[in-house]
Amino acid sequence: MKIKHFKLERYFAKYEFSAKYLISSSDCDGYSLEYILSCASKEELNLWNNLKFGYTDSAGSEFLREAISNQYLTVNPDNVLVMSPGEANYILMNVILERGDEVVCMAPAYQSLYQVAESIGAKIKFWLPENTNSSYYYNSDKLNELVNDKTKLIIVNFPHNPTGFIPTITDLNKIVEIAARKNIVLFSDEMYHQIVHNPKDEIPALCDVYENAISLWGMAKSFGLAGMRFGWLATKRTDILNDVLAFKDYLSICNNAAGEVLTTIALNHKDKFIQPNIQKIIANKNLFNSFVAENTDLLEFGDTNACSTALVKLKIQETAYNYCEQLVNNCGIMMIPSEMFDYGNSHVRIGFGRENFGDILNVWQDYMMR
Ligand SMILES: Cc1ncc(COP(=O)(O)O)c(C=O)c1O
Repeated sequence: MKIKHFKLERYFAKYEFSAKYLISSSDCDGYSLEYILSCASKEELNLWNNLKFGYTDSAGSEFLREAISNQYLTVNPDNVLVMSPGEANYILMNVILERGDEVVCMAPAYQSLYQVAESIGAKIKFWLPENTNSSYYYNSDKLNELVNDKTKLIIVNFPHNPTGFIPTITDLNKIVEIAARKNIVLFSDEMYHQIVHNPKDEIPALCDVYENAISLWGMAKSFGLAGMRFGWLATKRTDILNDVLAFKDYLSICNNAAGEVLTTIALNHKDKFIQPNIQKIIANKNLFNSFVAENTDLLEFGDTNACSTALVKLKIQETAYNYCEQLVNNCGIMMIPSEMFDYGNSHVRIGFGRENFGDILNVWQDYMMR
């Protein structure tokens, strides 16, 4: 299968490990092995110390799927398959879609969410936000207009990368109703699940709400463990999971043994991982709001309620891509232009999950004063 380059990932590949500062990362700082083990119970430490590096259960070891299913209200270990999020997305599209199928996907979006489907030959319709340059709203009436009897799959991502949008429960239910009315499978990328800036805004995982929904969550964002490379699908559609499992035999086959234990520890002590990340994101977003207030000639930002990212308007004549290239080359700050999301050329993604965020804003401010 031929597939277009993943623009965002290629841009990261160019600068992520050479630029001095990263201001657009969607993940939070990675926790250390020492920290993960310091959270472990006696039994979990025992599991770690007696770890053997044989093959693991290709669905994910029982103890891990148990820890995952505990994160949901209506899911049991048989409703869970473990693999990297990218692999899960790739396989799922391949087992569900055929050439000519219609797919509706939110946009802008993490490219793999629609690119794999497009490569298979599916026809993609994009559900775009209503926006006022600086804040975003996905109107379910618009989704409704895009869906028809040929729609095979609806793809959503809440909290949303890059805009930071999260629907209300009422709007979420409307989305589920639209899918349920035509019995459409709903793929719900929930990589930023539970990253809400106020607990009242939290929404349920869609696999707990709709029997035709498949939820994707993983370690990279909410948990601050991107290097673990672990994610999972959770769904009542065990027929789809069986097909995904059979396809996985051609890719990773099974998961790495050490990651399974460490992921289990993080899941069993979730608050010790997610809560510090949320506090960091809120603090950095506050710093950013002050920064925007001092730089209204350059930036427009309408605030967010969720996620670790925001899509911010640049009020300049030149393209976002050119601005970002100058920024990284002149002061070492890597920032993602909206061209990498195929979303015009006047926005940038900001990521709030890193400890040095305030320092980076100072470097950016100095650069503007030069
Ligand atoms: C919406 C979304 N889905 C999936 C992924 C992939 O997650 P991972 O980096 O753990 O493979 C990302 C990563 O940025 C993402 O933003």
